[in-house]
Amino acid sequence: MAAPVIAPSILSADFARLGEETRAVAEAGADWIHLDVMDGHFVPNITFGPPVVKALRPHTDKYFDVHLMIAPADPYLAAFAEAGADGITVHVEAGPHVHRSLQTIRALGKRAGVALNPGTPAAMVEPLLDMVDLVLVMTVNPGFGGQSFLAGALETVARVKAMCAGRDIRIEVDGGIDAETVVAAVRAGADTFVAGNAVFKGGPAHYAERIAAIRAAA
Ligand code: DX5
Ligand code: ZN
Repeated sequence: MAAPVIAPSILSADFARLGEETRAVAEAGADWIHLDVMDGHFVPNITFGPPVVKALRPHTDKYFDVHLMIAPADPYLAAFAEAGADGITVHVEAGPHVHRSLQTIRALGKRAGVALNPGTPAAMVEPLLDMVDLVLVMTVNPGFGGQSFLAGALETVARVKAMCAGRDIRIEVDGGIDAETVVAAVRAGADTFVAGNAVFKGGPAHYAERIAAIRAAA
């Protein structure tokens, strides 16, 4: 498989100290920083938007993996690109024109991702594979950190993996990933692992060991 990428989600960080937290997790061995953007409409929670991404950008050179759980997404894509996103992922369920959203992300010079909720069939992304650098398979229902891993979503990971054979597309899992659940995700074909709670619980003194434990298991 492609070299594993560990992407801590700052959704589980201390929001009063987001800059320091981003820096700490980057120095602790994160490959990417995963940024969860929620609008209180597509998902039942609200987090942050482009100004926060921009404010965090000077704190690390790590790849900013921006996961948009917002509908519509299109009016905000340029703002996230300008704020410093490296990759932008939109949900296939977030609107009728996901193909256009992906075209826009690529036209902005960013890596394009498409995400699938646990209840969405893998086939939904098949017509989009020429347009994406990453497929994100949710392994919880999006909206909150700290939820239990949904093993049923691994079937979707395996289908996406088969569909992507021969293509340079990363397969990311997001939700309930820790040093145990990551094993089954790898077996199903994932190569990119978002982890919020499993990295951040226990505080900064443990970030390095928690990232290393997920990496060792992957
Ligand atoms: C869920 C978010 C995830 C979440 C993962 O809506 O997309 O990125 O932060 O958190 P854990 O690893 O705690 O499930
Ligand atoms: Zn996410």
